[in-house]
Amino acid sequence: MTVQTTDLTSLERDILAAIAAAEDERTLDDVRVKALGKKGRVSKLMKSLAAMEADERKVMGVKLNGLKTTLSDAIAERQDELHQAALDARLAAEKVDVTLPIRPHAEGRIHPVSQVFDEIITIFADMGFEVKEGPDIEDDFYNFTALNFPPGHPARDIHDTFFFHPDENGERKLLRTHTSPVQIRTMQAEKPPIRIIVPGRTYRCDSDQTHTPMFHQVEGLVIDQETHMGHLKWCLEEFTKAFFEVDDIRFRFRPHFFPFTEPSAEMDIGYTRVGNEIRVGEGDDWLEILGCGMVHPNVLKNVGLDPDVYQGFAFGMGVDRLAMLKYGIPDLRDFFAADMRWLTHYGFAALDMPNLANGLSR
Ligand code: PHE
Repeated sequence: MTVQTTDLTSLERDILAAIAAAEDERTLDDVRVKALGKKGRVSKLMKSLAAMEADERKVMGVKLNGLKTTLSDAIAERQDELHQAALDARLAAEKVDVTLPIRPHAEGRIHPVSQVFDEIITIFADMGFEVKEGPDIEDDFYNFTALNFPPGHPARDIHDTFFFHPDENGERKLLRTHTSPVQIRTMQAEKPPIRIIVPGRTYRCDSDQTHTPMFHQVEGLVIDQETHMGHLKWCLEEFTKAFFEVDDIRFRFRPHFFPFTEPSAEMDIGYTRVGNEIRVGEGDDWLEILGCGMVHPNVLKNVGLDPDVYQGFAFGMGVDRLAMLKYGIPDLRDFFAADMRWLTHYGFAALDMPNLANGLSR
């Protein structure tokens, strides 16, 4: 068998054309096998070299090797092109717009009570108060005795306390009726100056449109050597303005009685009712929002602080009532009904954390 140079040239042209025409990697591999595989056209020609005369073999050997190299290079090059094209196609097909919102709308809502806790904490944190917490299950000492409720005093009754069964020592634990026990726990654990607020759950045996057996309070306590009633008044005025997001607010301090403060007061804020809506901060009607006063000397003594050296103020506010007022929620019991429609209407978006710079309730 002799091989003409013209044959080789047309063979090369044919195979190069087939390589260029291959549209995918599988077709290209077929072309490769048919040319350079064991039984491929070029391989067969290589085998025929053995039967040639030495001179002819020399010439043809060089030519065939050249052809083989040309074809292998062309295949490798086409292979790269096809590979890149396949990758480009896949990238285009799997393209994801990472700027799209993850869901059409967020489903979870923040409960108004949680929102108001966050708002209150934001305001007092800005004034330098620290957040403390205490147990919901308390004993008589922390809930009453240390707070200057004498044994058998009628003030214990107005708290409508939930008591547990007595333990083996006859001691009855109780569900705290207010967050004030955390005043005692903090003053026992830390030296003044103290500046804390205490968000938490509180419990009283009471249920109607404005009372639920479990409700929420935020306690405040400031103890140092010079804090006086003027500071208390300023602090609570600043708080109410920030909380209700108004520049000015009508308020008054009404004398009151608490065993653990002297003097004691309740703070009322002015409001008007326009139709169904309550407008806070203006008008001639008054709403009580919190109790407060100067910490009673007996309370300071009960935690080992000298009342001739230390003084300060305390306050306790009803969070549920503040939420009702600020967000126009008419019935307290709905807070605890776990009704999705109510929560969707009165709830807040999960990622809008209240802050003083952008607005608390935005
Ligand atoms: N603990 C009182 C209550 O629950 C509120 C209060 C706290 C009053 C601190 C004065 C000072 O009614």
